Amino acid sequence: MKKLLIVGNWKMNLNTQEASLLVHRLHQHIKTHRDIEVVLAPSLLTLQPISMEIDRRRFGLASQNAYFVDEGAYTGEVSFNMLRELVDYSIIGHSERRRYFQETLEVVRDKVAAAVRNGITPILCVGETSPERAAGETQRVIHDQLTTALHNLTPEEAANVVVAYEPVWAIGTGDPEKPDDIKKVISWIRHILSELYGETQAGEQRVLYGASVAPEFVRDILKNTGVDGFLVGGASLNYQQFAGIVDSAYAALHEGSDHD
Ligand code: PGA
Repeated sequence: MKKLLIVGNWKMNLNTQEASLLVHRLHQHIKTHRDIEVVLAPSLLTLQPISMEIDRRRFGLASQNAYFVDEGAYTGEVSFNMLRELVDYSIIGHSERRRYFQETLEVVRDKVAAAVRNGITPILCVGETSPERAAGETQRVIHDQLTTALHNLTPEEAANVVVAYEPVWAIGTGDPEKPDDIKKVISWIRHILSELYGETQAGEQRVLYGASVAPEFVRDILKNTGVDGFLVGGASLNYQQFAGIVDSAYAALHEGSDHD
């Protein structure tokens, strides 16, 4: 059975001391479950100290970004190669990077390939903006983002990529997309994957939802949309909220059964 994946994207928040405090609280409040994998994505600055403070059996680590060339004269950048063994995952193609840092479809594709080449699992973000949604372009946008990003991978490499569907218009609003609509897009993503790699692989591939995830929405989204977990922004900065998301996910997974 696929494990549920819950990723906390701290974005450009928390200095070293604040990050350390949050990790301490997460250790106290997040329960470990065999069927839920919890991953933290601190800033690049705090990745290294956090890696020494966390219990790696309880929390995985992700970078929020990295550069696609392995080394060289690229002032200010950090490569996936430098993150090898430090992180398990890397968030790639987040809408904030596409928007504020002009990351094109091709840059995202090269970053996905660089992560894979360096043994890091990409968490590939796809999703439509508000104007794209209004223009009925959601399917096309997601198709282009997904197929370009996976283009240089073998089917075996692509199988390992985690896809995160993030409707850009719902990020940071406190109001997630409705489960019925999430379900349609998740099915579309699996449809694209099945055209590329066959139905079995498409069914096994991990697809997450992200945008305004909070404990009160977890059950509904998990039960009704076919997602395999969540990419959490704002709520991952608050240990009670983040622990609440993990608890609600666990409760939803085990509803109607009495095993731990
Ligand atoms: P949010 O962010 O949970 O604050 O909406 C999600 C994301 O951008 O990954």
